[in-house]
Amino acid sequence: MDLKKDEILKELFFDLDKSLNIEDLEKVRVKFLGKKGIIKNLMEKLKTIDEIEEKKKFGELINILKEEIEKELKRKENELIKQIKEKRIQDEKIDETLPGFPYVLGKKHILKTVENEIVEIYMRMGFHLSFGPEIENEYYNFEALNIPKFHPSRDMWDTFYLPNGLLLRTHTSPVQVRTMEKIKPPIRIISPGKCFRRDPFDASHSPIFHQVEGLMIDKDITLSDLMGIIDLFAKKIFGEKTQTKFYISYFPFVEPGLEVAATCSLCGGNGCSVCKYTGYVEILGAGMVHPDVLKNVNIDPEIWQGFAFGLGVERVAMIKYGISDIRYFYENDLRFLNEF
Ligand code: FA5
Repeated sequence: MDLKKDEILKELFFDLDKSLNIEDLEKVRVKFLGKKGIIKNLMEKLKTIDEIEEKKKFGELINILKEEIEKELKRKENELIKQIKEKRIQDEKIDETLPGFPYVLGKKHILKTVENEIVEIYMRMGFHLSFGPEIENEYYNFEALNIPKFHPSRDMWDTFYLPNGLLLRTHTSPVQVRTMEKIKPPIRIISPGKCFRRDPFDASHSPIFHQVEGLMIDKDITLSDLMGIIDLFAKKIFGEKTQTKFYISYFPFVEPGLEVAATCSLCGGNGCSVCKYTGYVEILGAGMVHPDVLKNVNIDPEIWQGFAFGLGVERVAMIKYGISDIRYFYENDLRFLNEF
């Protein structure tokens, strides 16, 4: 029986020449090697040969032809792959003479800039950075700070509780306790971070805001050290002419407790809408660390004393830049953010 090898190969070369891509090539493969293809057809013919020697010879020829077809298909496939790669390189060629795209640089949010400025001022006074978790437990947020369960002051620091009994801290003051548990006095730390309260989102309150906590524990620290350091800070952040006013307040974890106001840097103390025409704006809470708080962390209040303070970053930024509404910080309006 005649295999007609030359004719088959001629047809194969003709088809391969016409194949421009992998899909075309696949069609050729199916035509020659597929289930109903030419080789399969020859195998069917093989079954009809009775004479053993002839059957063997014809089978061998089919195998040789099949190998040749496979070799040619592979050769064409490599050729096509090479062409595809070369075309892609050509298409992706970069014209280095074209002008580039302008690269828009991001920048720090105004609150981060102000927080960094506050921290830097205190670091220059010898304070070290310390951090605490935003997710706290009741002990550090309240009890260790002399605020037992059912103490009325918990109302003003109401927060968001998590299902596992933990809470989002309402102030950075827990860091005082965590630090005093870890390191022995003398201590001089500053701790910036996020705080959370069940406060309305209005012109001067946000449920998420930022504080910077300060703590100084040493021998013979007095209220005048606290007043001197806060006054120096106010002058550095708002300007040399700034004056500070201290008045008695109440925080369970300090005794005495103070609130501090600084002359409004916008009107220079003459009165304006930002300071509500008082000339002063409250900037922080502070006081001498309560002896019970020191006892809670095994520090002897007969030997060591100190002060702590907690200031609101948003409040400082608002005074410094004359911003009348805290919500501007959180609206992500680029017209506002790009002003700083
Ligand atoms: C405290 O949080 C005390 N832990 C501060 C302190 C520390 C006192 C150490 C004594 C010793 P107060 O609740 O007043 O205090 O908050 C301090 C500052 O955080 C406020 O002056 C204000 O600037 C800012 N603040 C408080 N609540 C908000 C709020 N909802 N949105 C924006 N700022 C707030």
